[in-house]
Amino acid sequence: MNDGTLNVSVFPHRHLLGIEGLSPVAISLLLERAASFVELNRRHDNKLATLAGRTVMNLFFEDSTRTRTSFELAAKRLSADVINMTVSTSSIKKGETVVDTAMTLNAMHPDVLVVRHADAGAVQLLAEKVNCAVVNAGDGRHEHPTQALLDALTIQRRKGKIQGLQVAICGDIAHSRVARSNIHLLNAMGARVRLIAPKTLIPAGIERLGVEVYHEMEAGLRDCDIVMMLRLQSERMQGNFFPSTREYYRFFGLDYAKLASAKPDALIMHPGPMNRGVEIASDVADDIGRSAIREQVEMGVAVRMACLEVLCAKLDEEAGQ
Ligand code: NCD
Repeated sequence: MNDGTLNVSVFPHRHLLGIEGLSPVAISLLLERAASFVELNRRHDNKLATLAGRTVMNLFFEDSTRTRTSFELAAKRLSADVINMTVSTSSIKKGETVVDTAMTLNAMHPDVLVVRHADAGAVQLLAEKVNCAVVNAGDGRHEHPTQALLDALTIQRRKGKIQGLQVAICGDIAHSRVARSNIHLLNAMGARVRLIAPKTLIPAGIERLGVEVYHEMEAGLRDCDIVMMLRLQSERMQGNFFPSTREYYRFFGLDYAKLASAKPDALIMHPGPMNRGVEIASDVADDIGRSAIREQVEMGVAVRMACLEVLCAKLDEEAGQ
């Protein structure tokens, strides 16, 4: 349970910009704190005073429904004041927008900025310009750390561990920040990671991150404990990466026939939003016994509460309180 004792010395970071560079103890701290919020979130009297007086700003340069809502709810559950800003970047040079916006918001003294941006590296750039803590809510195809943390919490709760599990991440790896953050986290926590995708959707040299690459679902899914499906990120594709979505579904869409290669109790995951009938069959996605897709959304709020709590505790520590 959340007993109020929080030792943030194992988390030597001001921001949460990615999973890369986080130690297993830092990851475990976030997961433990998150786990302590899950039961609380299921109650109707689910508000804590932890962040009363703090201001969290959600700054989204890219459309998002579930991630923004999840951060908003997380901040409100901890009694922070929350401001949501959605900024269109279409007509302005992106680099300028980020820095200008950062300086403007900085002048309003938020405690935490939660930022999503279509360009990899934009959130880091912004973090260098402001005084507050920054959480990366997804930057281009680079990282999406809270997604990997919520996936890890879901796995831990369903399987009792992460260490030693065989995890397959399937689909559009090339354009996915979710895949990248998950690869770092799962490797750090001792899982084995396989990537399954057509050759055109696997970035060159990805094996260097310590993963095995497969181009065929049946072989890649063999004896896997976790099957993590990814959305085809067509908004990031320039050109054709596969003949048609029908063809893609035939070879890479998760249906029961392909799933039969994985372990009988393999858990099915997807970060959402899903393209039903493209990367996953509807009946598989909705399989109550095997799909953890709804639980992932639930764990998202708990994980984001933990991230906000830890980053604000670091601010207290810095201020000598
Ligand atoms: C993911 C994202 O935005 O990277 N979704 C999310 O955070 N809910 C994955 C995706 O968009 O496919």
